[in-house]
Amino acid sequence: MPVTTPLSSLAGRAVADPIAPIFGRIMPLQAADPSFVSLSAGSPDNRLLPNDLLEDLVRDARRADQHIGLLNYAMPQGLPSLRAHFAGLLQDLGVRCTPDGLLITSGGMEAISLAAELTLNPGDVVLVESPAFPGAMSTFQRCGARVIHVDCDDDGIIPEAVVEAIALHQPKLLSVMPDFQNPSGRVMPAARRERLAQIIEDTGVLAIEDGVYTQLRFTDDPLPPLQSYAPDHVFYASSVSKILAPAMRVGALVTPPAFVEHARRVKSAYNMQASGFTQAIAARFLDPGASVLEDHLQSLRAAYAERCRVMDQALARHFSDTAGYTWTRPSGGMFLWLEGPNSVDFTAALDRALEAGVAYIPGSLFYVDPRCGHQAARLNYASTPPDRIPEGIARLAEALSG
Ligand SMILES: Cc1ncc(COP(=O)(O)O)c(C=O)c1O
Repeated sequence: MPVTTPLSSLAGRAVADPIAPIFGRIMPLQAADPSFVSLSAGSPDNRLLPNDLLEDLVRDARRADQHIGLLNYAMPQGLPSLRAHFAGLLQDLGVRCTPDGLLITSGGMEAISLAAELTLNPGDVVLVESPAFPGAMSTFQRCGARVIHVDCDDDGIIPEAVVEAIALHQPKLLSVMPDFQNPSGRVMPAARRERLAQIIEDTGVLAIEDGVYTQLRFTDDPLPPLQSYAPDHVFYASSVSKILAPAMRVGALVTPPAFVEHARRVKSAYNMQASGFTQAIAARFLDPGASVLEDHLQSLRAAYAERCRVMDQALARHFSDTAGYTWTRPSGGMFLWLEGPNSVDFTAALDRALEAGVAYIPGSLFYVDPRCGHQAARLNYASTPPDRIPEGIARLAEALSG
């Protein structure tokens, strides 16, 4: 009998992570050449991850455990202490939530997946930003949804373009990242969030707001989340990946009230619960009484802000506006978006850049249409020490001029 692969339609729809193969190419180059500069990461800098703090948090969590079963199974909705602290943190950011209405997930990615699985049927349409986070797009595609990009400007997704796209495609969901969008670094002003909330309330479209970078702001006070204007329509996804460590795999999903029970049911059918062990550690981290979160955030914000400034200066040196290059100047998060003139193809230039000792993510990977995004690149300023960033940008300029 010939071997067959009776693949489910669900598995058939899953899109491979477009960024992983690039990391696969970069890792041996970095291992062979310690001076290699990777501006491609989607993760925090290993050297800024709080190893010592983590040891203290583990010790404190074990001491506080008192046989509540740190190493045992937990409840599907998550540890009560973590839900309370996570809800407190999100409330401070303006999210309308309670500990009971919040579900602890295995990272922000699972929060997005759950929101998608709770709402999408095959054939539904999801509107996303231009460019958009590939992880969310592949989740929507796995659910059988058609992903449609909506035009953005410097302030994020354009409300009039959303209205048009709703009339044209009757979407089920809108997916947005109003704070320090991945990959563009853009921030949506408060008035536009309010307008967008009005649009989704008027049209009955649901939305997912991805807030995983929200706490990494350099200067301003937080802007009101989209969710705060339309809590019955907006799912809010958060995570400790970018503020503590991705390996914790701890995130949170705030659902519109009508979805709370369903979210727990789907989560427990999916993987029972997030790790109780890392939840307990995250609970110590977010505990306002322990006052570790604010100190750690201050140091991350200061380090990332400096790196962002250094990259901006290096770009100004090598990519003058007159040559047709522009880039975003983020006020938080980890990424900026570099756009070139028509003649530039960042996808094609990647090989030359890797040879020159620098890596980035071509903008094309942030679009479903393979014809889009080649004139742009995502640069991560947060994961490279500031003294290496200028060299990385100089190498990038050299590779693009070749
Ligand atoms: C925009 C965005 N949302 C969600 C995630 C997923 O976060 P987590 O590691 O918590 O699953 C990431 C991770 O890179 C991200 O960049």
